[in-house]
Amino acid sequence: MRKNFGVNTCLYPMPVFIVAAYDENGKPNAMNAAWGGVYTDNMVGICLSEGHKTTQNILATKAFTVSMATVGQVVACDYVGLVSGKRELDKFAKAGFHAVKSEFVNAPIIEELPMTLECELVSYDKESNHLVGRIVNVSAAEEILDENGKIDPARLKPITFDPIHHQYLAIGEKVGNAFSDGKALK
Ligand SMILES: Cc1cc2nc3c(=O)[nH]c(=O)nc-3n(C[C@H](O)[C@H](O)[C@H](O)COP(=O)(O)O)c2cc1C
Repeated sequence: MRKNFGVNTCLYPMPVFIVAAYDENGKPNAMNAAWGGVYTDNMVGICLSEGHKTTQNILATKAFTVSMATVGQVVACDYVGLVSGKRELDKFAKAGFHAVKSEFVNAPIIEELPMTLECELVSYDKESNHLVGRIVNVSAAEEILDENGKIDPARLKPITFDPIHHQYLAIGEKVGNAFSDGKALK
């Protein structure tokens, strides 16, 4: 027997993206977004409510960054999902975040989050709240790179959002090899 849950936007794994953008005066803000993912081969798609300060900033500057939330920054990453930069003017600093401007787009990279997609705005649909961004660069701090200079998820320690229990879970152990293990059944 299976149990039906009806219409529900829940799946596993959901990301924990920290979306950041500057306002017109160059002040950084950031928010938490779990309703998003890869859209096409060089684009991300995220469901962002129009009223958020971050959405308004992205519409003004046409650029944003998407950083992976990490185990070590859970409190800050949850905080930016609870409080709006519209009411808390020191939100970014209160999260303990420090911004450096991306070399590629007019958007802040959060120094405390070591892996970031740097994106330019492609479209935003006010009806569906769907935002699409083109990835113009992916950057990562040296400390999360492996011996071959590649991003190492074991060092990054990204988290996933559990939409049923409203928890953050650490992404766990390796259980297989992609594009490879299935060959056993060929
Ligand atoms: C776990 C989590 C996931 C969230 N996912 C989204 C999302 O996908 N889209 C969205 O519009 N808001 C989402 N939010 C809500 C925003 O992060 C929140 O309203 C935030 O305060 C907006 O900040 P801002 O007004 O400073 O931009 C999420 C919040 C949390 C805690």
